[in-house]
Amino acid sequence: MNNISIVEFIKQSPKAELHLHIEGTLEPEQMFSLAKRNNVQIPFKNIGEAKNAYNFSNLESFLKIYYEGAKVLLKEEDFFDLTWAYALKCKEDNIVHTEIFFDPQTHTNRGIDFDIVINGIYKALTKAEKEFGLSFKIIMCFLRHLNEQECFNILDQALAHKDKIFGVGLDSLEIGNPPKKFEKLFKKAAENNFITVAHAGEEGPPEYIWEALNLLNVKRIDHGVQCLKDEKLVEKLSKSQIPLTVCPLSNIKLGVFDKLNDHNLKKMLDKKLMVMVNSDDPAYFGGYLNQNLIETQAALNLSSEDIKTLLINSFKSSFLSEERKKVWINKI
Ligand code: ADE
Ligand code: ZN
Repeated sequence: MNNISIVEFIKQSPKAELHLHIEGTLEPEQMFSLAKRNNVQIPFKNIGEAKNAYNFSNLESFLKIYYEGAKVLLKEEDFFDLTWAYALKCKEDNIVHTEIFFDPQTHTNRGIDFDIVINGIYKALTKAEKEFGLSFKIIMCFLRHLNEQECFNILDQALAHKDKIFGVGLDSLEIGNPPKKFEKLFKKAAENNFITVAHAGEEGPPEYIWEALNLLNVKRIDHGVQCLKDEKLVEKLSKSQIPLTVCPLSNIKLGVFDKLNDHNLKKMLDKKLMVMVNSDDPAYFGGYLNQNLIETQAALNLSSEDIKTLLINSFKSSFLSEERKKVWINKI
């Protein structure tokens, strides 16, 4: 397969996306139109100025802008429109299954009802499922910079929406907020039959990945790229085949690696870790899923076999039924 056909292969193959924050799909154009519709002030004069501000030095500097941007989301129709726009990107990129994160506390702490947030997101995904067959799961993330009690409160609110929310995760500022801070919370979530995942080893040390596995009992690690610093951990991840939802363009934008050529995805593949590619917050990091795959393939000189493995892993690592996984994997 030459380079052009690898790009075509990436574009045409069915894909699953497993690490996507719906608030991170808020394109500057949509941010401006929602700010106008809702009469909300934003800290940018125009779209160009917003894009220029997307020049992050680390996770913390990104999160400040990301939480600021989310302030334009007020009504159910705003959450619907945001999610619908992402669903159309899925169609464009041949993403046939998506497992999206949402951060309710980003909104409830501004006085927005939990129901408004989840209903807008859920209605858009249900419409996409009906109209073009996009299957989905919704994962609610706790903001780890907040305290345990605030997170217990939001878990209580999520119980009324158990029919729509498949699992819980952990995001926001990693360093200084280790998984062990949320051990009791995740125990309660599991008792209520939510599957669990967590961001770990994005900027934080391998120790945080161990804690997510051992104390939060997660089924997947989000990011996990710091695992290569700990041989025992690599052995454990390789044996257990616990998925790591890697987000290459995000890692470059947030300074986890200097350049895409320095990314450790190829090393992870060579160590037989269960990795796949995801877009994280595509409106802020310069590209949706296909763009992530295409740029990473070129930068790391990934073979067509590597790409095939990444795409198959995206389904293997999903929360689809074994039967649906097989159907999609057979099409790759
Ligand atoms: N929230 C949105 N994107 C995130 C990321 N990459 N890491 C942690 N929290 C996030
Ligand atoms: Zn993330």
